[in-house]
Amino acid sequence: MSRIGIFFGTESGTTRLIAKRIAKGLTLRLGEGVVAKPLNVNRIEPEDLGAFDALILGTPTYGDGVLPGQDNGTKETSWAEFLPRLNGQDLSGVRVALYGLGDQETYPKHFLDAMADLHACFAGLGAEMLGAWPVEGYEFKQSRAVHDGRFVGLALDQHLQHLLTDQRIEAWLDDLAPLLLAVLAPAGLDHV
Ligand SMILES: Cc1cc2nc3c(=O)[nH]c(=O)nc-3n(C[C@H](O)[C@H](O)[C@H](O)COP(=O)(O)O)c2cc1C
Repeated sequence: MSRIGIFFGTESGTTRLIAKRIAKGLTLRLGEGVVAKPLNVNRIEPEDLGAFDALILGTPTYGDGVLPGQDNGTKETSWAEFLPRLNGQDLSGVRVALYGLGDQETYPKHFLDAMADLHACFAGLGAEMLGAWPVEGYEFKQSRAVHDGRFVGLALDQHLQHLLTDQRIEAWLDDLAPLLLAVLAPAGLDHV
């Protein structure tokens, strides 16, 4: 059974493409069968998260710094509708890493803000948050997704810096994979 779930919200599909790249990179590091096929969060139920030991969650930012979702003006339901449905869930013991897509040039005062909303929600449910990422190499004025001088997850900008995306994903996964392996190992992975 897959033990790492990857879920994303998206409007124009880019965050889905990145989810697939992350799944591929993680499978290369952890082996076949560990990482589930990425799914759009608007196709799952809150209980579905409980099937995984670790989660990788991705979101673009829309509006002026908000999560995607019909409540916030995007076409389809997404994180904006899903997060309130998690109220009362206990995610203690689950490791969660975030990635966000944004546009630092057009939205320099709200760069990747929506990742902060995912972080607040999942940290509030008791999850162990992993995968903070340096702010160096980006130019923006403000981001709610920066805590203690680091982004709360992998920061990607397919508009201004798409050429850096693959190397950023690889570096992030190099750091993240051992931390995810640590949570999987007690149940005994063959190749550990
Ligand atoms: C109407 C609109 C509003 C946006 N607002 C923000 C924003 O506030 N902050 C940000 O960093 N990016 C913002 N973006 C950029 C998107 O997050 C970015 O294009 C992202 O890659 C889209 O991902 P998707 O293809 O998965 O929907 C906005 C884009 C659009 C079209």
